[in-house]
Amino acid sequence: MRCPSYVTRVLGVLLSLACTAAFGAAADARREDGKPMTAETRPIVIAHRGASGYLPEHTLPAKALAHGMGADFLEQDIVLTKDAVPIVLHDILLDSTTNVATVFPDRARADGHFYAIDFTLTEIRELRAHERRAPGEGDSTAFPARFPAGPGLSGVPTLAEEIQLIEGLNRSRGMRTGLYIELKAPQFHKAEGMDIARAVLDVLKDAGLAEASDRIYLQCFDPPTLQYLKDTLQTSLPLIQLIGDNSWGEDGDTNYDYLRTDEGLAEIARYADGIGPWILQIYSGRDESGEAMVTDLVARAHRAGLLVHPFTFRRDALPPGISTYRELLELFIGQVGVDGVFTDFPDLTVNYLESVTTP
Ligand code: G3P
Ligand code: CA
Repeated sequence: MRCPSYVTRVLGVLLSLACTAAFGAAADARREDGKPMTAETRPIVIAHRGASGYLPEHTLPAKALAHGMGADFLEQDIVLTKDAVPIVLHDILLDSTTNVATVFPDRARADGHFYAIDFTLTEIRELRAHERRAPGEGDSTAFPARFPAGPGLSGVPTLAEEIQLIEGLNRSRGMRTGLYIELKAPQFHKAEGMDIARAVLDVLKDAGLAEASDRIYLQCFDPPTLQYLKDTLQTSLPLIQLIGDNSWGEDGDTNYDYLRTDEGLAEIARYADGIGPWILQIYSGRDESGEAMVTDLVARAHRAGLLVHPFTFRRDALPPGISTYRELLELFIGQVGVDGVFTDFPDLTVNYLESVTTP
């Protein structure tokens, strides 16, 4: 599934509430095959947790802003409530992005954490979502220059509510912005007696969204869950294998080093349409002469027939050896040739692509 033409994308860009980047004249950007980058062939912009560089992640305001900024897809990280309702939340914990400790002070587990799966949807609706707090005590935020710490202005949405928002905005704005849904910690959910893959597909089915043409990707770090989606649940939606680092302790026992080998990529290609690698698995810094050190992962994934959508592109957390956000995009899009990017700053990314796209 490639990025379709967006006749109305320009409108979205004009409506952007944060068009802060002033880019110059169009550059001669070309795709891997040497052809100019056009609206049909340019990479997709995936708003990572919404326009999370500007508003608290995974809130409906952050999603509405990303829609207005012209993102091609809005990302949803999904976990389940106690009553098996898919909600849009990055962590299986409520600790860092909600006021759960204030509203339900006695509901932490023995490890001191508040698990979303221990709360019914009715209880989740009592919470407010705020800017992500930095790990540890205190009110400091994970990204100091972003939206301020403080009481949340809105709640934790369900997947169904977010679909309603996106479909409503697509209609009122004449857009075709898609969903890019991550199933979080499926093995954790399984151990709790829950089937997160089936629960997500049920919500999509209820919304009449089940076909690849509905512009929905499903993504997951766990290969068995993607295989289950394809072989057992027989979804026709495109699937993306996320590739983390073995040190992260992702749910499951996946060897991500193996997944990046040619054999691993060939295995992925049997059940998925693409990979979502960590940005530093493609670029690791600059050598002594200042040359960007780029791995061959993207080229090998393309040879295996896989799309490549790396994460996460952040203006305020640039990789080593990169000075500006535009430089980061020029490297990954202009030189390496990825097929899409997860970004906290969809406006800057859309603006860059507009500046390098051949009409
Ligand atoms: O889903 C791509 C990327 O979002 C994975 O990282 O932790 O932000 O969900 P995370
Ligand atoms: Ca994600």
